[in-house]
Amino acid sequence: MHQDSMNVPLPTPEEQAELNDMYAQMDQMHMKPLWNQIGNLMPEHPTPEAVPYKWDWSTLHKLAERSGELVPVGRGGERRAIGLANPGLHGETHVAPTLWAAIQYLAPGENAPEHRHSQNAFRFVIEGEGVWTVVNGDATPMRRGDFLLTPGWNFHGHHNIASEPMAWLDGLDIPFQYKMDTGFFEFGTEHLTDEATPETSRSERLWAHPGLRPLAFPGAKPSSPIGRYAWEHTDAALRDQLALEDAGFAGVVSPGHAAIRFSNPSTGGDVMQTIRAEFHRLRAGASTLPIHEVGNRVFQVFEGSATIVIDEKPFEINHGDVVVVPSWKKWHLEAGSEGADLFCFSDFPIFEKLNLFRSYSPEGI
Ligand SMILES: [Fe+2]
Repeated sequence: MHQDSMNVPLPTPEEQAELNDMYAQMDQMHMKPLWNQIGNLMPEHPTPEAVPYKWDWSTLHKLAERSGELVPVGRGGERRAIGLANPGLHGETHVAPTLWAAIQYLAPGENAPEHRHSQNAFRFVIEGEGVWTVVNGDATPMRRGDFLLTPGWNFHGHHNIASEPMAWLDGLDIPFQYKMDTGFFEFGTEHLTDEATPETSRSERLWAHPGLRPLAFPGAKPSSPIGRYAWEHTDAALRDQLALEDAGFAGVVSPGHAAIRFSNPSTGGDVMQTIRAEFHRLRAGASTLPIHEVGNRVFQVFEGSATIVIDEKPFEINHGDVVVVPSWKKWHLEAGSEGADLFCFSDFPIFEKLNLFRSYSPEGI
């Protein structure tokens, strides 16, 4: 019961003094009375401290570029990554309570040394090419539109053979593992174990053929064994959904809205235990239905433009812009005049596993 709903007379000054004395003793014993905080502990619905927020790509990229001029990359700092700090989360570098998002920037010829950690990670390449990420010795190209995985406890490093710098979006479950005290970290080799630059990774040659899995590796894997989801496959899947809609067949989520989830081919489930990744394509003028969801979403615009309305507040988003939708904040998308391609990641797998996921669409479906 909330304290303000209790119909009790106010304490007299004498009673208040005794109460204050009791609270002081409790405080000394590291005890907290439930009746003074129940309203915050058990709200009627999620009331996140994280706020809806947008980061402009032009500003992000400019500062990443500047950091490339001023800060060397190497052992110790490990990565030239610039984390996005949600203004509602007290200065912590958390885009949401469970999720980390950062712009990582690598200058020509730079190598990011190998390490591994229990935190699950992915990369989404907004533009450029010429960097290979090496995951457990498997050199994997990073190109525009690619989605790449580094599930927890796999050694990984990057090297850049391009003549131009490259920047991409990193997403991890760092805040979740930090708060849950589950994090482990280990240094790997200073120099990459494989500086090859193959067209495709070994993981793709084994696992990224549509609907086909190798007999040599039966059973379910906790994370997807595919290191790179190449843009050409994502693009084709979205294009085909819209073509099917044009031909009068099922396939799109809603009119003019094609969407895919990146999946683990050994289970059909999410790519990693804590992170879901999706790609959405909206035709010009198409929109999605407003929805509340338990969990946090982060979008990055790949192409085109859109308006995302979060908690009744509109954010104009263009190429590269990153926007966060905190838990249970009502949101919907409206595509601009050229349509919109959006990468999205979320922490929904955590809440689905714990049977805590809920969604509510006020306009129905
Ligand atoms: Fe890492």
